[in-house]
Amino acid sequence: MSVQLKEGIYWVGAIDWKLRNFHGFITPRGGTYNAYLIIDEKVTLIDSTKPEFGPELLRRIREIIDPSEIDYVICNHAEIDHSGSIPSVMAVAPKAKIITSTKGKAILERHHKQTWEYELVRTNDELSIGKRTLKFATIPMVHWPDSMVTYAIEDKILFSNDAFGQQIATWERFADEMSMDIVMEENQRYYANIVMPFANPVKNALKLVGGLECEMIAPAHGVIFRTPEHIAAVLESYRKWSNHEADNRAVIVYDTMWQSTTKMAEAIQAACEQLNISYTIHNLSEDNLSLVTHEMMVSKYVFVGSPVLNNGLMPQVAAFLHYMKGFAPKKKVGMAFGSYGWSAQSAKIINSTFEKLCWDILPSIEIDYFPDTEELEAMTATVIKNLQADPEQFAHANPGECELL
Ligand code: FEO
Repeated sequence: MSVQLKEGIYWVGAIDWKLRNFHGFITPRGGTYNAYLIIDEKVTLIDSTKPEFGPELLRRIREIIDPSEIDYVICNHAEIDHSGSIPSVMAVAPKAKIITSTKGKAILERHHKQTWEYELVRTNDELSIGKRTLKFATIPMVHWPDSMVTYAIEDKILFSNDAFGQQIATWERFADEMSMDIVMEENQRYYANIVMPFANPVKNALKLVGGLECEMIAPAHGVIFRTPEHIAAVLESYRKWSNHEADNRAVIVYDTMWQSTTKMAEAIQAACEQLNISYTIHNLSEDNLSLVTHEMMVSKYVFVGSPVLNNGLMPQVAAFLHYMKGFAPKKKVGMAFGSYGWSAQSAKIINSTFEKLCWDILPSIEIDYFPDTEELEAMTATVIKNLQADPEQFAHANPGECELL
């Protein structure tokens, strides 16, 4: 069933209960592709769904109106999860015109190879659809170069597309209908895996959104925020994350060959407990790196451990570093650790990623073969000492040498 947001404005999207992997982003709660229908003198559809959900979208539209009456299809973002069923809509909406950005049109043409009528919009352009006026703003790189938002001026609804989204398959359409803890956890997981690389574009988008009076933020994924408290909470989260503000907590990630690096991870765990630093600990051969990423994002301290394997790292640790580097997280303190046999190499490789990210770097600890109890206790004591020390005394990458500022 469609769901009414305000008089004449409906959610008509699709719920993807089976989604577990969104281009590498693990989605244990499934996902949603939100589309919105506005009934006015000009019937307007905002965004669509993945292609396979076209019938679901059209079924919800038909509960309200014959799709042939659609005048405008607004494409805020042409990635296939939002534009995939535009061809299904256009096939039954012969008078419809697509409203999008210049870059959106270019991507739609590459994706769909169709000749549609377009009207291109830029920031501050307005479109009258009857008693309502829609205003547009581009927010490039939140999430693709074409990304934009649509603001319904009279209704004070921001259709924010990927921004402020969460991947949750739920029948509830509004954040206040479900646990806000779950909503914010998924909001954080979504930001960490999709939005994190684009901190500066997010700051620009927040400046723009901050100037709008919003009674609802209606993203293209997940639930809609409609209480002042929830709108303030999601905006504050984006402010914090885009400024790379982390909590005084730690994430310990590692893989192990013969449990030596596991024991070293547990020695760091003991240090965190003695200092009352909240932490999570993850063996990457068991925990998916996408699920670990949001812990990394909110943690000030990132401990990464690997034994040496064939002159390199364990594959899952290398994958984690590669995945993490792509997000360019900043303002963190890193520490490498791991066991080795005849040639200590893993800390150097791990630290090279920290250096590229311009993090503060605590002294690494590497232990040959099997750590004994005394060595592990000494490791805990060293980590405590280093965490209590002034980080200025430890290694900093020269900002001029940082590759990922
Ligand atoms: Fe939800 Fe960038 O697509």
